[in-house]
Amino acid sequence: MEHYLECINCGAKYDSRETIYVCGRCGDLLDIKYNYREFKDLTESWLNTPLSVWKYKELLPLGRTSNIISLGEGGTNLLECSRLGTTLKLKHLHMKNEGENPTGSFKDRGMTVGVSKAVELGAKIVACASTGNTSASLAAYAAKAGLQSIVLIPSGKIALGKLTQAIVHGARIVQVKGNFDDALQTVFNFTNYHKDIYLLNSINPYRIEGQKTLAYEVYDQLGYEAPDNVILPVGNAGNISAIWKGFKELHILGLIRQLPRMIGIQAENAAPIANAFKLKKRDIKAVTAPETIATAIRIGSPVSWKKALNAVYESQGLMETVTDTEILDAQRQLARLEGLFIEPASAASIAGLKKIVDMGLIGRDEETVCIATGHGLKDPDTIIKSYNINLTEINPMEESIDEALGLKQVMVVKSN
Ligand code: F0G
Repeated sequence: MEHYLECINCGAKYDSRETIYVCGRCGDLLDIKYNYREFKDLTESWLNTPLSVWKYKELLPLGRTSNIISLGEGGTNLLECSRLGTTLKLKHLHMKNEGENPTGSFKDRGMTVGVSKAVELGAKIVACASTGNTSASLAAYAAKAGLQSIVLIPSGKIALGKLTQAIVHGARIVQVKGNFDDALQTVFNFTNYHKDIYLLNSINPYRIEGQKTLAYEVYDQLGYEAPDNVILPVGNAGNISAIWKGFKELHILGLIRQLPRMIGIQAENAAPIANAFKLKKRDIKAVTAPETIATAIRIGSPVSWKKALNAVYESQGLMETVTDTEILDAQRQLARLEGLFIEPASAASIAGLKKIVDMGLIGRDEETVCIATGHGLKDPDTIIKSYNINLTEINPMEESIDEALGLKQVMVVKSN
């Protein structure tokens, strides 16, 4: 769709054929703009098209569909969670299961658009900094497009599943001393002097465009309505900004009347945006040494903080923090009540939901959609450690199984 880029701060405009990530005038974030009056009513054609990111191609910023690089992303289930809902005393709770995406996280929605744009611009190499999921997704989509991928990861632990994906898909991986924020700054500077390498972190507004389709799908799956609340984990803050943009566009197009409240959850020791929200501030103070078991959101200086705070304030939403213990408890609870295994960062949203319900900030009758951002198998080692499992080997006999499981033999006394 015809579009241009606009700075969210000074309003400077840029042509879509330029390779540009931030405003050349003031350095702030860019947003992709369309002339919404030119959109024709798409609801009729949507009716017979299955859910997927590219179902909404008319609302996505790509010149030619022949440039689309797709692995079949989007179209994830919106699962009703009645057992968890009952526990939390919520009548209408749904989980958008983003772990069903091709590489196991919501990042694929952004990456299909981002890598397609890279192809459109004629790039041969793509790069990102990542806590894991972005790199897995970038590596897979780059492979599909026949591009080389470069991935910068921070020091310390990277979830094994995610690292394995990047390796298998052939990414060139460099570990940067420092945390995610240092890795992101490094790749930003690196792609600034290697103009031929296309940066695909969410600072690139084309990523956000792909991720906004999550809002369209939720609207579709709820029978052409927005929920009352959308709750999700927040790290670099691209996703909350993207989903809010999606809902706002549905509103601008006259497809929904009411917008949802956007509720962002951060880990207690990596919570610059939640801290700002609690102080009712319009800017953030970076956290210099962010720490949490949810490595995906271990971020102290989120790039999209301004867009995220806008989303929360504009939607009359909120931000909350959760501890690592609350995250692991929520992960286990969801797995056991709903059969859904999600990674720790994703479970932060369930932990946050519990807290917010306890505070009386979500009504029993409201429709709440939680975004399960990534699959649990991405990060199995963290979880196994927290369970302290000791497997005992037994002889292949019934009595041994009973003994191992602590079951008593029931003696049946026959009476005649
Ligand atoms: N959940 C998961 C599973 C993630 O991987 C991320 C971010 C988030 C939530 C937070 O989303 O950054 O848009 O606010 N992961 C990035 C990465 C940082 O490198 O994979 P956000």
